[in-house]
Amino acid sequence: MPTMLVTGANRGLGLELVRQYLELGWTAVACCRGPGGADALNALADGAGDRLSVFKMDVNNAEEIAAVAKTLDGAPIDLLINNAGIVDSYGTGVAEGNDDPDLKNYDHEFWLEILNTNVVAPGRIIGAFADNVAASDKKLIAMMTSGLGSVANTWQAGRYAYRTSKAGLNMLTRSAGEWLEKRDITIIAIAPGWTRTELGGPSAPTAVEESVAGMRAIFDRLTIADTGTYWNFDGQKLPW
Ligand SMILES: NC(=O)c1ccc[n+]([C@@H]2O[C@H](COP(=O)([O-])OP(=O)(O)OC[C@H]3O[C@@H](n4cnc5c(N)ncnc54)[C@H](OP(=O)(O)O)[C@@H]3O)[C@@H](O)[C@H]2O)c1
Repeated sequence: MPTMLVTGANRGLGLELVRQYLELGWTAVACCRGPGGADALNALADGAGDRLSVFKMDVNNAEEIAAVAKTLDGAPIDLLINNAGIVDSYGTGVAEGNDDPDLKNYDHEFWLEILNTNVVAPGRIIGAFADNVAASDKKLIAMMTSGLGSVANTWQAGRYAYRTSKAGLNMLTRSAGEWLEKRDITIIAIAPGWTRTELGGPSAPTAVEESVAGMRAIFDRLTIADTGTYWNFDGQKLPW
């Protein structure tokens, strides 16, 4: 059976990705910052037994990433999902009337933190696990982006940190594409839709089950010819 590795697996979309792939009989390598307190994730082991491994991994911690890679010792990873991410809680945009568009008032320190977590860390993780992906049958890397990362669709002010981080992640998807393609690895950017998680909040229209089922359907049908593409979870392509 294939193996998936996901970051930020203890809650939200990461947890649901693990749940659905385990249900399909896959093996899951679930990475999160605090395995000890990841009750919902650890509870999945009941039905999965040794098909679920939970690892401590802060995506900003190079040593923890290297330790997971060392433990896996070259084992194949069919599907690597760079899911962990953070968002700025700085209003939702000027149009909603609760954000200040003035860049001098922005939280620049948090902006750096968001870029580190949402762009630099996924790059570090691909570097650490590309050999495992290349050793697998499916050879797929999914970058959990957002519709808010679309440069073409953006003019509204605000959410500068999150938007630039996801646009940066999109660029990473494209710019690592050539290197990975030479190893027969497909990489795509995928937006899960506005989904009810801690990050998405309770007003989001999409349930995690629906978002993940939609993303799985896309992952199922991708081939190397699709590498470097940008998807919404409902199967629509998004403009970069
Ligand atoms: N929900 C939406 O509407 C939506 C829309 C578009 C894109 N997305 C993207 O989907 C992804 C998952 O979001 P979600 O909605 O599932 O959010 P969530 O429920 O807030 O979960 C975020 C996950 O990321 C983890 N994380 C954050 N920083 C980390 C770090 N430094 N190292 C390791 N793990 C870290 C969190 O772990 P802790 O519990 O340790 O904090 C948590 O597991 C994110 O990349 C997000 O940008 C979500």
